[in-house]
Formats: sequence, structure tokens, C-alpha cells
Amino acid sequence: MNFSATRVLWPSLLVVISIGSMSHGALAADPARGQVLWNKPGLSGVNMCSDCHGVTPSTNVSKVWNASGSRSDQGFPSAIRNAISTQRDMFEFSDLTDSDLADLASYINAIRYGKSITPPSLTDAECLFNWAEIQLPTVFKAPAVQSGTISTLGYRVYSVDGTTNALGHDTADSQIWVLAPSFGFAAPAPLGSATSASLLSTSRAAGCR
Ligand code: HEC
Repeated sequence: MNFSATRVLWPSLLVVISIGSMSHGALAADPARGQVLWNKPGLSGVNMCSDCHGVTPSTNVSKVWNASGSRSDQGFPSAIRNAISTQRDMFEFSDLTDSDLADLASYINAIRYGKSITPPSLTDAECLFNWAEIQLPTVFKAPAVQSGTISTLGYRVYSVDGTTNALGHDTADSQIWVLAPSFGFAAPAPLGSATSASLLSTSRAAGCR
């Protein structure tokens, strides 16, 4: 992205943010992402689903199949929500979003019924954004309150305790852009070609989904 385009795109992004259109389309449940969450510690930083319900949900340890739904559907996420609110052992998962639970339920469904789990093919930007959300969950706090594209710039906008953070990826020059005041990026800034390329390949190597 050349400098003048940059000056146009980021202000328009900030205007979009300030208008506060928070719409955020529902995504299809993603069992591959559910598998990642199955092995991700909750707020304690220690326990994860797999610790109590099995390395995979292939057997019905502690009734986890109550979230599997039937073979023809994508699982039953509200069984997980219900367990999170009633099982003390699971209180620490209260920050999981509806979309997280849909992904987890679809993973439990896929394992129980022997469906294949194919990681969706993501663009470089989606891969990077997903990875950044896992690496720095307090800065790029999923789910994004907004995501989209302005010209060649794909972006996600995050809201953390009233602060707006954002990640961008410009397909024109493949640079990553960051807005994160608490992280030293008070204004949107590109990370440079070398750093951007390195982060994009690191996120791919991490198997981001
Ligand atoms: C520290 C242990 C622990 C962890 C971690 C844990 N659970 Fe549970 N879970 C339990 C216990 C205990 C029960 C209740 C089992 C029973 O009723 O016999 C339960 C019940 C459930 C149920 C059944 C609810 C119902 O309808 O009866 C589901 C579904 C479930 N857990 C999903 C999950 C998922 C998904 C995760 C990860 C996000 C998770 N659990 C993490 C201990 C845990």
C-alpha cells in the first residue's frame, strides 16, 4: 500500500469503527477450530476439556456426548453452555463465546460419528488474525467486533475494556498493520515487510485455523 492510500484507508476504517456498526455474521461451526479449543486451557491456565473428558471425545467420559447432537446435525452447543453454568469444574470456561461452543460441539459431533475434520483453507490474513487472537488474547480479543475489507486492506477490529485494537493485512504489499495502544501502537502502523512475512509464515507453521 502506498502512503497516500494508507492515509485514506485507515481513517476510513476508524470512521467505520466509530460509527459502531457491530454486526458480525454467524459463521458455520468449525470442528477443526473446536479441536484446538478442546486442548486450550480455560481461565485457570491449567485445565482443558481434554483433561477431564478424554484426549478426544471418542468415548462418553462424564457425559460429554450430551453435546454431540445426532449424526445429521452439527452438535448441541447449549449442553456445553449449561454445563459451564452448573458444573463447578467448568466455571472457568465462562468466557467461551457462542461461536466457540458451536465449534466445540461440532468437534464432539465429528469425533463421535467418525466424520472427517478438515481444516478450512484460510487466507494468509485469516490465518494470521486467528493466530494472533490465540497468542495475544487480551489484545486481540476474539471474537472481533467487526471484520471486513476496505480496498486491499483486510481487517479485524477488537474491543478490549473500551479500547479499540485492530489488525490489518494489506494484500497489495502483504504488510501487517497493527493498532493496539496498550501494546505500543497508538496509531495504526505497518510492521514492515520482513516482520510481516515472518509472522505470516510463523502463523501458518503454527497450524492456525
Ligand atoms: C476439570 C474438569 C472438567 C473440565 C476441564 C471440563 N469439564 Fe465438562 N464436565 C465435567 C464434569 C465433572 C461434568 C459432569 C459430569 C456428570 O454429570 O457426570 C462435565 C459435564 C460436561 C458435559 C455434559 C453436560 C450435560 O449435559 O450433562 C459436557 C457437554 C461438557 N462437560 C463439555 C466440556 C467441554 C466442551 C469442556 C472444555 C471447554 C469441558 N467440559 C471441560 C468436568 C470438566
